[in-house]
Amino acid sequence: MCGIVGYIGEEQATPVLINALKKLEYRGYDSAGIAVLGDEDLIIRKAKGALKFLEQKIATEIIQGTMGIGHTRWATHGEPSDVNSHPHTNVSGKIAIVHNGIIENHARLKSMLEEGGVTFKSQTDTEVVAHLIDFFYEGDLFQAVLEALKKIEGSYALAVISQDDPSRIIAVRKDSPLVIGKGEGENIIASDVPALLEYTREVYYLEDREIAVLYRDHVEFFDTEGKPVEKDTIRVEWDVASAEKGGYEHFMLKEIHEQPKALTDTLRARIKTYASKTIHLEEIGFDSSWAEAGRVIITACGTAWHAGIVGKYAFEHFARIPVDVDIASEYRYRDPLFNPKDIFIIISQSGETADTLAAMRMARKGGARIIAITNVVGSTLAREADLVMYTWAGPEIAVASTKAFTTQLMCVYLIALQFGSLRGVVNEEDLSRYIDALEAIPQQAERLLADKEAIQRFAAHQFNKTKAFFMGRLFDYAISLESALKLKEISYTHSEAFAAGELKHGPIALVDESTLVVAICTQEALFDKMDSNIKEVKARGATVLVITYEDVSYFDASADGIFRIPHTIDAFSPILSVIPSQLYAYYCSVQRGLDPDKPRNLAKSVTVE
Ligand code: M6R
Repeated sequence: MCGIVGYIGEEQATPVLINALKKLEYRGYDSAGIAVLGDEDLIIRKAKGALKFLEQKIATEIIQGTMGIGHTRWATHGEPSDVNSHPHTNVSGKIAIVHNGIIENHARLKSMLEEGGVTFKSQTDTEVVAHLIDFFYEGDLFQAVLEALKKIEGSYALAVISQDDPSRIIAVRKDSPLVIGKGEGENIIASDVPALLEYTREVYYLEDREIAVLYRDHVEFFDTEGKPVEKDTIRVEWDVASAEKGGYEHFMLKEIHEQPKALTDTLRARIKTYASKTIHLEEIGFDSSWAEAGRVIITACGTAWHAGIVGKYAFEHFARIPVDVDIASEYRYRDPLFNPKDIFIIISQSGETADTLAAMRMARKGGARIIAITNVVGSTLAREADLVMYTWAGPEIAVASTKAFTTQLMCVYLIALQFGSLRGVVNEEDLSRYIDALEAIPQQAERLLADKEAIQRFAAHQFNKTKAFFMGRLFDYAISLESALKLKEISYTHSEAFAAGELKHGPIALVDESTLVVAICTQEALFDKMDSNIKEVKARGATVLVITYEDVSYFDASADGIFRIPHTIDAFSPILSVIPSQLYAYYCSVQRGLDPDKPRNLAKSVTVE
């Protein structure tokens, strides 16, 4: 949800800001803007739409200045337009700010400022902050920001510069991410690490309600009372190339192809062989006390929630422990029952999703212990959970989650099996067999991807279908949900998922000749049930694509198309069976002339409610 950047150093700021914004465009692309402090003036340029429109706008201009701030927007308050684009300024145009988040009490603050004679230019919530800082400004920008912070409610990552204070950038965060890159004679802020990697690997993670004051040669930190705070840098080991497209047309296709490696990285160091193969989660601090839990509660949003549904089936199957799985945005507002013996597993690629963090904090307040599964080192989730299991998928840039999902599944299986083993449900021999199956998956995914043209051909014929339904049972139902989400978010096809057994209870009324039904069939004990469901939708005119194992001929007679995946243990099939759906969604999006990396109305990291 919006990306913010800031640069102060010896170089010209504009190319650095634009370059850093390019790495954050996945966070929003409704508009972009920069404010650069030149010798005398604050130069502000903004454009509606993707960053390239801002680049075109400034292509023939020389914007001189070695400090500045920038923004790429995912609109919340006020339509995407030039005027609503950030940076926003005070009335004199001397103070400029960029903001990621929502100022919840903006209406009240706006009325107060308007009564004082301020005229607003935009419909955004952000603009109040620029005027509020101005309201408190008495010659010290830092003090004015401190005063303004006392008044604002909501979530924010803010960067502030002023023409009258040309030696520093002031940045602050609450419930929205912000990292600071420490360079040589230069310092940079950004909403996410990939934007910094070209300039530095030494990073400060700003905590909630911490303020950073960036000078050219150093950074100072304070709390919101203005008291100094000591902070150390963390070295980021991410590979720069992994945040680039690397020859692929889109990040999404690259990330789909990175899954075999990502899955290997997730497994590596967590499997050890002594007399037999065992799972080692000591690195995350997991010990037998965790397996004594009375219940597991999994909360997450979107794709991560789908990983949670697979988790529920996996935990119940392998560890025989009751599991509740909840959408974080529902959970946080319910009146849920849990006790300190329950264990929470919170899943989030970014580790910054607002609802997911709120659910985690609720669990924390109730005294429960928390395991985080996340991809982003140093994210808020990682910092606040008791145990962190990193997915090690590398940066995921495309809005549609792919490699983060399959690596989340891998983590969930490892934890479930470890629970099962510690609780005496899974014996040594079975554990070893399960681990063998998990270890085979990266190479199986590689083999599956080698056949991607089969899905591309199918998409070339089907991409115009206006309705697509995904159906499956048990683990295949969870993957139906994920497959339908992938297709709808990047191809804008109306797609839904159904537990195949539910079809006759309503959804079948929607099926006609215009419907594509994708039947995911990897749960061997239920093949006959799935075959009946396939026949039922075919009888109503649907075109049916079946995703099943390569050695299964059960559906040959009923399906219009079959995509075959390597055979694995049925409970582990989600990691493989989702890949054809990811590819199908990707190719449909491309066939429709869309940009799969930047679907309309969406942003990678949902840091606002
Ligand atoms: O960063 P998170 O995993 O917490 O994000 C949760 C969802 O916003 C995310 O999975 C979303 O549904 C993706 N666009 C799915 O592709």
